[in-house]
Parts: sequence; C-alpha cells; structure tokens
Amino acid sequence: MTSGTFLFAPVEVDLQLLTENLKKLVGARHPILYAAAEYLFGAQGKRIRPAIVLLISRATMREQDITPRHRRLAEITEMIHTASLVHDDVLDESNVRRGIPTVNSSFGNRVAVLAGDFLFAQSSWYLANLDNLDVVKLLSEVIMDLAEGEIQQGLNRFDSSLSIEAYLEKSYYKTASLIANSSKAAGLLSAVSPSQAENLYSYGRHLGLAFQIVDDILDFTGSTEALGKPAVSDLASGNLTAPVLYALEEKPYLEKLIEGEFIEDGDLEQALALIRESKGIERSRELAKHHAQLAVEHLPDLPPSPSRQALIEMADYVLRRLY
Ligand code: IPE
Ligand code: IPE
Ligand code: MG
Ligand code: MG
Repeated sequence: MTSGTFLFAPVEVDLQLLTENLKKLVGARHPILYAAAEYLFGAQGKRIRPAIVLLISRATMREQDITPRHRRLAEITEMIHTASLVHDDVLDESNVRRGIPTVNSSFGNRVAVLAGDFLFAQSSWYLANLDNLDVVKLLSEVIMDLAEGEIQQGLNRFDSSLSIEAYLEKSYYKTASLIANSSKAAGLLSAVSPSQAENLYSYGRHLGLAFQIVDDILDFTGSTEALGKPAVSDLASGNLTAPVLYALEEKPYLEKLIEGEFIEDGDLEQALALIRESKGIERSRELAKHHAQLAVEHLPDLPPSPSRQALIEMADYVLRRLY
C-alpha cells in the first residue's frame, strides 16, 4: 500500500489521537463492538478522509488551533466511511479488507450488517452532538447518498449500456459525496465564507471522483496483496467501471461477454484481456487526472501553510497510487 504519511505530516499527531479515540468511541458499548472496533480501526486504513478534514481545519483556522469539533468531525467522517465498507463487503461477499479478514468473513453477515448499522447510527449521534445544524444536514445527506450509490450499482450490474455519466454519478454517491460534504463541513466549523465553503465542497467532490476512478483502475492493475482487498473483483461481479466502459467503445465483443455474465469458462479471462489491450486503462487515468486537477483549481484562496500545501499535493498522491 502506498503510504501517504509524509503528506499527512501537518496532522500526523491529530490522526494518532483520532485512531485511539475511534476505538474508544465505538468500543465502549458492547464487547462485540469492542472487538469490531479494535479490529476495524486498528487495521491499516489509509485515513485519507479524516486527514483531509483535519488539513482543511488547520488551513482554515490559520494561526489558531483547531477545535474539538473539528476533531470530532474527522472521527465521524472515518466512522461513516468504515460503516460503508463493512456493508460494501457484505454486498460484495469480500473476504479481505485492510489486509485482514472482513467483518462478514470473521463474524458472519448478520453481525456485519448490525455492526455497520451501529457505526452509522453512532456517527449520527456524534454528528447531532456537534450542535451545528448545517453540518448535520451535510453529513446526513452523505449517509443517504451512500445507500443510493450502492443501490444504483446493484441495479446496473452487467448493463453494458451504462454511460460514463451514470458511472460518475454513482461514484459521486458512493465516494465523492462523503469527501465533498466533510470538506465543506470542516470549513463551516471554521466559519469560512459561503464561497469558500462551496469551493471546499468542489475540491472534495473532484478529489473523491479521482480517488474512485483510481480505485477502479487498481482493481484491474493491482494485486490483492498490495491493495489489502481482493483484486479483479469489480468486473466479475458485474460492476462496470471506467476502464470497462471505455474498452466497450473499442471492443464490441466485450458487450456479448458482459451481457452473458461470463457464463462460460474463460469468458472472464477473455474480457480482461480485451480490456487490457484496449485504451480503457489509459483513458481512465486521464479522467482521474482531469478530476484531480479540477480539485486543486477549486482549493480556495487560503494563506500559504503546510496544511494547504498538503491539500494541493493530495491530488498527486491520489494519482501516484497508480504507479
Ligand atoms: C475504499 O476506500 C473505498 C473507496 C471509496 C474506493 P479507501 O481506499 O480509502 O479505504 P481505506 O480506508 O484506506 O481502507
Ligand atoms: C466504494 O467503492 C466503497 C464504498 C464507498 C462503500 P468500492 O466498492 O470500489 O470499494 P472497494 O473497492 O470494495 O474498497
Ligand atoms: Mg466494494
Ligand atoms: Mg473498488
């Protein structure tokens, strides 16, 4: 896994505190949840979302220290993300995540669904306790969006007529919404201007889209070992991502293989070979780059600081995961 540590330097101490707090916050209620929390928040997540929230908090607070509310928002953001992964692994029947067995494979689907529900509910509770109605609205919309994204993805399985626009919309719901809305919320907690808040939202939206496109490319090019989660899994389950959608424009036979849901032995391998010889991966890289650039262009005018610099370099970090 590519390390983002150097990039997170301005908030490294904050992130350590966050990991400890997450274990305490989630684990306090019940032994099973304590086991799940130890396991989820002790494992090797990249913590990119709370890092972004904390960097924005530091960049917008300028000379002053960040507040306990900024920290709590970062924790809530990682809690919501982790809940979505726990549910996503149930839907995808995945056995490995963050380099260790998933909650569903260790404790079964029932426990995993409940653990995910609990994390969503608990994040709502901590969210309400921030006592900031605008922030509550932003983050509760994210929780709706996550479900919407999974539903869209489920409905569009093996549909080779899916457009890139529909794919990007689903990616917004599944991934970019959380980064966009938590970025904006961090700005609101620092009382930035409305136009700066909108820019922070757009920064997070484009960064999130780039992040998902890169994740979708890595599903084709990465190894399970390097990713800490199963590779080459999207296509097999009918989740058609950017590399496939572009490849379909060049390789008409791919459509037959997809619509046939890879029923015959060797169909999946043949489809993978067609995608790999097409320009699908290359064009997807261009699309990710485009959104990473747009992200940086939306970074509001804030005084230069190590945190602001790290937010700019975050866009490169997302793309660098490809190499
Ligand atoms: C995985 O997110 C899900 C996607 C949106 C692609 P991350 O790659 O940030 O997962 P962790 O938190 O580091 O495990
Ligand atoms: C996003 O995407 C996951 C969620 C936001 C729940 P993926 O479905 O690509 O996530 P991975 O690849 O399983 O991490
Ligand atoms: Mg998945
Ligand atoms: Mg993925």
